Amino acid sequence: MLPWVEKYRPKRLKDIVGQNEAIEQIMKWIEDVRAGKKVKPLLIYGPAGTGKTTAAYAIANELGYDIVEINCADLRDKEKLNRVLGGLGSFSLIEESPRIILFDEVDALPAEGKTISSLLKEILSRGDMPVVMTANDVYEKHMYGIRNLADTVEFKKLGVRDIVKVLSKIATMEKVNLPEEAIKKIASGSDGDLRSAINDLQSLAEGSADLVNYYGKIFGQRDREADIFRVLGSVFSGKYCTRTRFLTSTLDMDQDMFMRWIEENLPIAIKDPPSLSLAYEYVSLADIFRSRIVRTGNWKLMTYINEFLTLGVCSAKSLSKSSGFVKFKFPSIIKELASTKEERAELKDVLRKIAKNTHTSSNVVRREILPLIAALCKRNKDLMRKIARDIGVEEDQLESIIESIKI
Ligand SMILES: Nc1ncnc2c1ncn2[C@@H]1O[C@H](COP(=O)(O)OP(=O)(O)OP(=O)(O)O)[C@@H](O)[C@H]1O
Ligand SMILES: [Mg+2]
Repeated sequence: MLPWVEKYRPKRLKDIVGQNEAIEQIMKWIEDVRAGKKVKPLLIYGPAGTGKTTAAYAIANELGYDIVEINCADLRDKEKLNRVLGGLGSFSLIEESPRIILFDEVDALPAEGKTISSLLKEILSRGDMPVVMTANDVYEKHMYGIRNLADTVEFKKLGVRDIVKVLSKIATMEKVNLPEEAIKKIASGSDGDLRSAINDLQSLAEGSADLVNYYGKIFGQRDREADIFRVLGSVFSGKYCTRTRFLTSTLDMDQDMFMRWIEENLPIAIKDPPSLSLAYEYVSLADIFRSRIVRTGNWKLMTYINEFLTLGVCSAKSLSKSSGFVKFKFPSIIKELASTKEERAELKDVLRKIAKNTHTSSNVVRREILPLIAALCKRNKDLMRKIARDIGVEEDQLESIIESIKI
């Protein structure tokens, strides 16, 4: 079956939604091409799933030109790149039918390498064939040269209303009977990315007719957020993976907390070792992605975490034979953190006071100074009293912290 993103990809510029300003700019560019003027390459940039590649094809369509697509993400090795770009450089337009060249995802070209940029720049500045480029980010350093040669057109994240419009239209054409609430939920969860919204709609609709009914009921209820126990029940059912994924998207809980719930309940819900180990594998992958987000700030990776925690764990459970009623547990780490909250606050207070007196940070105190104080004071109570007085904390407070430190 044809993916709906392809089936409903607009062929004409006027059918691209939510990008009016950009389309106007593109129309002017097309007029210049039609008038036989020498045009700058067009660089369409913006977030994923907002219609950039679609626009490039629609441009060719409006002009009645063929399109030569070069996907720059595939050109990461130099030889291939030279071959393709070199070939283009010598390609003659005279006896060919008119065509435009599309460099898709041009920001994926390797940043280093003079050959690449000079070859590309040569083609871009020839001006004898219209060139369209697309990119997510044009403000990276290696895009500077290319950006300067081009006419830039910005595509914006799509608004929820536009996405709802497109989804409703597709739902009608495909005879998917989904309540508007569900469509809105998909739209608002897609972060302006229409491709992912259409894909979500399709995976939901293809789940089954029952599924659609089921969501009809959920969204009909006043309390729309699925509670965590229902989500866990679904994850550990090992059956309806797509439903699980969707249900999780309606859960109002931050992802770290959700991961803790899954972690805590894995060994309770999955008993046989092979499936349990597979499920842990998925949770650890989710954790790896979480630290990648922290390191790189790339929030796009967030969606993988959800997939690992829902589809991954659910599919691992589906291999397991164990079943039956499971009583889910509240994550123990959260309980522990709650019960030690006071102690941690005291420790923090002492660390802060020592830090102030020693002109260092609390971290240095925790790592280096506190163990030293503890070693000295464990044998010498007088010294402990003196230090407590000097840094301005109660003796008991310092003593209990010192006692808790293992030397
Ligand atoms: N503005 C839009 N109007 C109508 N449909 C759209 C629009 N944006 C995206 N779509 C739908 O989403 C699909 C993907 O869009 P497209 O490939 O153009 O995204 P893109 O901006 O090139 O994303 P990427 O940066 O990931 O390459 C299209 O096939 C189309 O179905
Ligand atoms: Mg694209």
